[in-house]
Amino acid sequence: MTVILDGKALSNKILDDIKHKVSNLKTKPGLAVILVGNDPASSVYVKNKEKQALNSGFNSYIHNLSQNTTKEELLDLIAKLNCDNNIDGILLQLPLPKHLNAYDFLDKVDPKKDVDGFHPTNSGNLMINEKPYAIACTPKGIIRLLDEYNIQISGQNAVIIGRSNIVGKPLSMLLLNRNATVTIAHSKTKNLSHITKSADILISATGKKNMVTKDMVKQGATIIDVGIMRDSDGKLRGDVDFDNVKKVADYITPVPGGVGPMTIASLMENTLELHLLNKG
Ligand code: GUN
Repeated sequence: MTVILDGKALSNKILDDIKHKVSNLKTKPGLAVILVGNDPASSVYVKNKEKQALNSGFNSYIHNLSQNTTKEELLDLIAKLNCDNNIDGILLQLPLPKHLNAYDFLDKVDPKKDVDGFHPTNSGNLMINEKPYAIACTPKGIIRLLDEYNIQISGQNAVIIGRSNIVGKPLSMLLLNRNATVTIAHSKTKNLSHITKSADILISATGKKNMVTKDMVKQGATIIDVGIMRDSDGKLRGDVDFDNVKKVADYITPVPGGVGPMTIASLMENTLELHLLNKG
């Protein structure tokens, strides 16, 4: 029997626990989210983050900046948020408009307020297996989900499709730090299905429909789908051909209801942890 990894149920459990902890605090954690421009997907993500922050008992501060925001204006806002005692976590929603380079800003966020774990201090500490102030939300949520279902990581072959700084690279470090043998595949990888078939744990983070099909998967594998897109029938789909891959996998995440809710839960966890670090 294939087990569906229920990220929604686990995230509800984590969020309830956070809410309970926050209700016993003297001051509320504060999460600031900066959205530059009007990318429709990003707007939806940011609204969802605000909803969950408020639901967790946090203060939420959304900064909607115009598409034409200059580098100086954005640096100015980050500097102000770094000094604002009401703010524990700062999240710069990506992608930015084309005229702005994310890497001009991510290292300007105070590492102790870097809820995304994208500052070089935090990503560097992750790389050397020293505790970062925060760990990137999607990779952190994936590891939490694997642990919840007691899926072994140590000694397993983990294959990640996608080398992004947001998912693929930090996830590779988390899995390596837990003693997995990690392969990162990407758009230039040769013989992809040969590599994916060796995976005990296969994670796909490409945003491409049907990136992972049944013939690419080893019998009994664990499949983690990070992709999310709206299909022509209006339904949300991931990278994985779920209905067919399910027939060979032992564990698989659904889309929606798998990795997505775990990302949000990790963001709330990071915000609370930074609040306790800065004010606890
Ligand atoms: N865009 C897509 N995923 C993320 C994320 O985890 N953090 C930020 N800041 N932007 C994103």
